[in-house]
Amino acid sequence: MIITSCGNSLDIAKGLAKKLKAVYSPLTISSFPDGDIYLKFNTEVKGHTVVIVQSFQPFSNISLLDVIFAAETAKDLGAKKVILVAPYLAYMRQDKRFNPGECISSRVMAKLLNNSVDKLITIDTHIHRYKSLKDIFTIPAKNLTSNALIAHYVQKHIKDEIILGPDWESYQWAEHIAHDIHVGVTVLEKIRFSSRKVKVKLVKPIPIKGKNVVIVDDIISTGHTIAEAAMQAKRMGAKSITAIGVHGLFVEGAIDKLRKAGVHKIVTTNCIEHPTNGIDVTPLLYEELRKEK
Ligand code: R5P
Repeated sequence: MIITSCGNSLDIAKGLAKKLKAVYSPLTISSFPDGDIYLKFNTEVKGHTVVIVQSFQPFSNISLLDVIFAAETAKDLGAKKVILVAPYLAYMRQDKRFNPGECISSRVMAKLLNNSVDKLITIDTHIHRYKSLKDIFTIPAKNLTSNALIAHYVQKHIKDEIILGPDWESYQWAEHIAHDIHVGVTVLEKIRFSSRKVKVKLVKPIPIKGKNVVIVDDIISTGHTIAEAAMQAKRMGAKSITAIGVHGLFVEGAIDKLRKAGVHKIVTTNCIEHPTNGIDVTPLLYEELRKEK
């Protein structure tokens, strides 16, 4: 088995290679003077399973294209199987045509991967209107969850806590984590006016006053969703507020926004490399890849 990466998720790639006792050989990726992608494998891949470890952030568009070029090259060089490990899979939120004429990006992204890789492994990908990844992927596609790792983190670092999901979609994380560590949980109702404007309200109240509130969501992008939830928790007398995101994209000044909204601590998994990473998903991916050896 050969573990490689197109530049993102290098720490996870190295960690996996070490645990799996596999060859770690990152790709050489640069561009030609006109901007075209230049890509080169630096080890013999013929007859081997090649694992491309690559989150689709930063730079989702180029990351996707790099993966396609890498997978096609691996097959062209005689790889037995190409597995994509994408701890963060981009484009999943555009899962319907919200306005006439729009591209359903998740379908297009899936089509490209179906054509170029043999298997996909991802983590807590944004499945909302789809029932499962089978709705868009024809290749085997596994969606792992970091719930147990997050629950372990909360149990170890936070006391007298309650878990808060900022919207109904986040309940799948909030509920599982709270259940694992036997603490209270509630969820807010989110109304999204645009990609940059949301409002939340508490529909199922639980005591928040004096509690250390842990807000859990799959994605923190502009930070609006968590910021609204944090302000709501503050109004209800929370003692402290921790925000945990599986995928920390942090665009458009999200960190500042969260701080201003009263979030004391921000923690993410290393699905996307970021200084807030506090939860390592490598063991989760290792368990899944072990089956391929
Ligand atoms: C959306 O449904 C997701 O679960 C997140 O709540 C959302 O993507 C967060 O985005 P933002 O940080 O821009 O509010």
